Amino acid sequence: MLDQIAALRRQAEEDLAAATDRAALDTFRITYLARKGKIAELFDALRTVPADQKPLFGKHLNALRADIQTLFDQRSAGASDEHRPSPSLDLTLPGRRLFTGSKHPLTQVLDEIKAIFVSMGFGIADGPEIEDDYHNFGALNFAPDHPARDMQDTFFLSKQALLRTHTSPVQIRVMEQHPPPVRVIMPGKVYRNEAISSRSYCLFHQVEGLHVDVGVTFSDLKGTLISFIKQFYGSSLKYKFRPTFFPFTEPSADIYITCFVCGGKGCRLCKQGGWLEILGCGMVDPNVFRSVGYDSEKYTGYAFGMGIERIALLRYGIDDIRLFFENDLRFLNQF
Ligand code: PHE
Repeated sequence: MLDQIAALRRQAEEDLAAATDRAALDTFRITYLARKGKIAELFDALRTVPADQKPLFGKHLNALRADIQTLFDQRSAGASDEHRPSPSLDLTLPGRRLFTGSKHPLTQVLDEIKAIFVSMGFGIADGPEIEDDYHNFGALNFAPDHPARDMQDTFFLSKQALLRTHTSPVQIRVMEQHPPPVRVIMPGKVYRNEAISSRSYCLFHQVEGLHVDVGVTFSDLKGTLISFIKQFYGSSLKYKFRPTFFPFTEPSADIYITCFVCGGKGCRLCKQGGWLEILGCGMVDPNVFRSVGYDSEKYTGYAFGMGIERIALLRYGIDDIRLFFENDLRFLNQF
């Protein structure tokens, strides 16, 4: 009987070593460990041995069963671990690089601008990129013969439909839909039929702003935009307002900041002037209020608009606007 036990142990160990997958391990369990398996058969045979030998054989049989069960359990645990490295995997090799996506630099700049204005109580609105002449020009107080309507600047899709040339038509759409007060920023894509170069592209992004209420003054415009500039560019930066003209605002101004490349001494970026124009703004022209049905005697407001590409070019020291639209990973990976 002891020989039989020893033989079974040897055979079980051999079979177990050969069982590499789940199916083989199952077969092993049924053959050896199940209720009608080979070990159970030997326990049955124990009944026929003389009573005085039973304790000795019983002890060996119990040990056999326990050992084989333990070995089987160990082997099963290994087999169930699917991530166990296979012998062919060389763990000394360097890892494979994971490519993670990142936000486009324009999106990063826009996110920052949005966060600043939202913290100052502005909402966010948007409008269609395909506009009509009325929203893009007429309602914004452009004269019928204004040069911006020229084929040179505007992509016309038909006599009436065009690709918006600025985000200002969204001002009109917001005011048409909401009675005052309004306080929103309106980011989006705009299109201009310009010769493509390192400085201009047929498509770019703007953020428009509009705040209309009773008693809104030029001081509110200044306070809000100066606060924006300080948060976005840093509080030590110098800025200046310079009068300019837009059909839809009166008075109007361009805001300039000290060139942060040369600190105002004059360089290639600021074209030797020491200042960079970053934003157009002004008090909403009463004619614009009339075209959306706002009471221009009761309400006043300010509007502003800025180009995102320009801000991103300046901030990251990028010298070609086309890089933003080429989706070249060698460029985008740097952000
Ligand atoms: N729409 C103007 C532009 O495209 C910018 C602007 C917006 C100016 C709002 C004043 C007020 O240049």
